[in-house]
Amino acid sequence: MEAVAAYPATNESRAKAKTLDVKAIKSDFPIFANQGAKPINFLDSAASSQRPRQVLDAMDHYYTTTHANVHRGVYALAEEATKEYEEARIKIGQFIKAPAPAREVIFTKNATESLNLVAQSLGRRLLKPGDKVVLTKMEHHANLVPWLMVAESVGIEITYIDHDENGYLILDDLDRQLSGAKVVSVTLCSNVLGTLNPVAEIAERAHAVGAIVIADGAQYVPHIDTNVTSLGVDYLAFTGHKMLGPTGIGVLWGRSKMLEELPPFLGGGDMISDVRLDGFDTSEIPYKFEAGTPPIAEAIGLGAAVDYLTNLNMGSIRAHEIDLTAYAMTNLANEFGSDITIHGPKNPEHRGGVLSFSFRDVHPHDISQVLDQFGVCVRAGHHCAKPLMRTLGVSSTARASLYLYNDESDVDALVNALHATSAFFG
Ligand code: ALA
Repeated sequence: MEAVAAYPATNESRAKAKTLDVKAIKSDFPIFANQGAKPINFLDSAASSQRPRQVLDAMDHYYTTTHANVHRGVYALAEEATKEYEEARIKIGQFIKAPAPAREVIFTKNATESLNLVAQSLGRRLLKPGDKVVLTKMEHHANLVPWLMVAESVGIEITYIDHDENGYLILDDLDRQLSGAKVVSVTLCSNVLGTLNPVAEIAERAHAVGAIVIADGAQYVPHIDTNVTSLGVDYLAFTGHKMLGPTGIGVLWGRSKMLEELPPFLGGGDMISDVRLDGFDTSEIPYKFEAGTPPIAEAIGLGAAVDYLTNLNMGSIRAHEIDLTAYAMTNLANEFGSDITIHGPKNPEHRGGVLSFSFRDVHPHDISQVLDQFGVCVRAGHHCAKPLMRTLGVSSTARASLYLYNDESDVDALVNALHATSAFFG
């Protein structure tokens, strides 16, 4: 297995990174061009990113020139639609360095459906009562509730890797925790703490005990050059709408051998090779997992998003986000001192550009509402990570999240709006 740095883009790739021209990037995004008198500072890309004209144009072009259903028609238009859909699959597979993109990339609705697909399908045939599934205490509900559902239906036992007060997983006892595990499913980047977890190391140790390893890449793939082989995982879930693509499309990547053994998730058209009144045979991978008409335009849009990200260079995007995260953490700490607590690792290189914070005793919904008066968009709430909120001792947080179209002016706007919040609440 190729070595993978726990904290990518810190050394060699960092040196090669080109500075992003944020002004030029912003001009590609119609939503920023159409703001009128009250422009927004969009700091909520961890919930959903914006999308550039290139993605919208690709989908528009498909709908206005090429649309027909895929894998069904033998006329030219349907064949062209199928070609574009399958080309998008290959492009997206290449983006994560999948060894066999045409067979290993499954299109789903979102990362949540990708994780449900694996959990439900494993639970249907391959997991037995008492089998151990290891998660972490910082998982998004999407990598927690599906396993709780399998626990209800199959009787698996779930155990959790804990983290310390700085948001790092505690791995001192990992081999004992992994002993006897059948599945290990871990987020690559926490959507609350921002922590980048050492998934390659966890995967290696989990494989040593024969466990299947699943990674939730929803907050990672959009921001960091991803190589499924060097990560060493068996499955990777991510979503289109957090990486400049449309909503309604997610991806599950899986190793061919694993996908061949995995039973199907949803049944219907396109996922079968034969159907009788008393049974059915499944199609080849990846089609075995794509029942019904798939998200064709969305796959093409996600393909265009991947082109856009690749042209900018993922190493440059990561370097930009590290610098901006450092700028935000320093400025927020300097301006507000003990009035603000930013959860998660203190080192910007050890985290994604997700800054969840508690501010004085102001409720996060109130913070978000006041910030909105200044055009600053942040998410407030439990971020679909209620167990983690309990560990942090809060019911919710405010969360600012950064992406390639943000720069220092967005962070400055956040700081100014927080000063106004402070003044408003006295
Ligand atoms: N999972 C998304 C978030 O963290 C919606 O905001």
